[in-house]
Amino acid sequence: MTEHLLTDVPAVSLDDYAERARAVLAPDVWDYVDGGSAAEVTLAANRAALDRVAVLPRVLRGVDRVDLSARLVGRPYAMPVGVAPMAYQRLVHPDGELGLAAAAGAAGVPYLASTLGSTPIEQVTGAGAEVWFQLYWLRERALVRDLLDRVVAAGCRALVVTVDVPVLGRRPRDLRNAFRLPADVVAANLPDGRDALAHAGAPGVSAIAAHTEEAFAPALRWADLAWLREYVDLPLVVKGVLDPRDAVEAARVGADAVVVSNHGGRQLDGAPASVTMVPEVVNAVGDRCQVLLDSGIRGGTDVLRALALGAAGVLVGRPLLWALAAGGRPAAQDALGLLAAELRDALTLAGCADPAAARELRTVGAG
Ligand code: FNR
Ligand code: LAC
Repeated sequence: MTEHLLTDVPAVSLDDYAERARAVLAPDVWDYVDGGSAAEVTLAANRAALDRVAVLPRVLRGVDRVDLSARLVGRPYAMPVGVAPMAYQRLVHPDGELGLAAAAGAAGVPYLASTLGSTPIEQVTGAGAEVWFQLYWLRERALVRDLLDRVVAAGCRALVVTVDVPVLGRRPRDLRNAFRLPADVVAANLPDGRDALAHAGAPGVSAIAAHTEEAFAPALRWADLAWLREYVDLPLVVKGVLDPRDAVEAARVGADAVVVSNHGGRQLDGAPASVTMVPEVVNAVGDRCQVLLDSGIRGGTDVLRALALGAAGVLVGRPLLWALAAGGRPAAQDALGLLAAELRDALTLAGCADPAAARELRTVGAG
């Protein structure tokens, strides 16, 4: 019998990257990426709920070639998928943001750059992808303005405001590990030194949570988004809504898309699995804005499920960090290629010539 090293065998599912990442990451970094808030009930629910969505395939539809391309916030992409914004990517691999953005560019999908990136936004936009900037609203309005001016000057294509982090969720793994950033991983979009708390360790404290509490404005209102809509002339995406009433508010202030998301189970534990809210949100906003889904997407079947429930596309988070951790930019590129191949298979098997056709499919057991 031949013993294969794990990395000799190509990954055949995104989950394959999880064990590879775990093998190379420091345990506290693995926990930061993998973990959720409180009892991690919502984290687990995301997966369980996706698995309960059964898609009814159509047959004899004469589908020969599948076209994966899709428009998201009015822009054409190779498939209805974006790279979810994730903080501090140099924690997992020196390629960091530049590696994952380059992989997104090669795959023809948008790269969502976090405010808490460990590479300055001006460098990320040079890596080859269309970049959407994800804003965490800072307490000082002047800092927010500076950041937005830089984002526009750097050539970002959309602005994504994450609204589910008034404070960071309590994440027991990070508290137990007294998780903090190493000295060489910095919040590169913030002014020098504004990330000091993220590096300061104390027993029972998550330095990242302490830092976000210091830096983020906790008491935002819809009027602030209306200001943003006026200040920046870019497509606006509101990330982190679950209640259809909030999605309607987002559409009212002029959002081009909402992301139905519970932040991958990292914020309010006990919130529903994101996928369960998609039908109601789609129904509530109608064609006033696009609906994207994240939290638990792990393959082409999940993208098909999201489309069948009426979403325009999905964001993928942890699997792409796992791939980046395991093998830098090339592995991240492989992971996105694998996802495209899986989506092509899923659409073909469901009798759909393109993502739009998948939105006509019926589902059984959603919710
Ligand atoms: C995140 N997420 C996130 N979201 C955001 O708007 N800004 C951010 O800076 C981050 N940072 C971040 C770091 C890490 C390590 C993870 C795992 C997640 C949330 C992310 O965009 C997305 O909502 C979830 O990751 C989606 O769930 P899955 O695909 O990871 O299950
Ligand atoms: C997280 C933040 C930074 O989920 O969004 O870790």
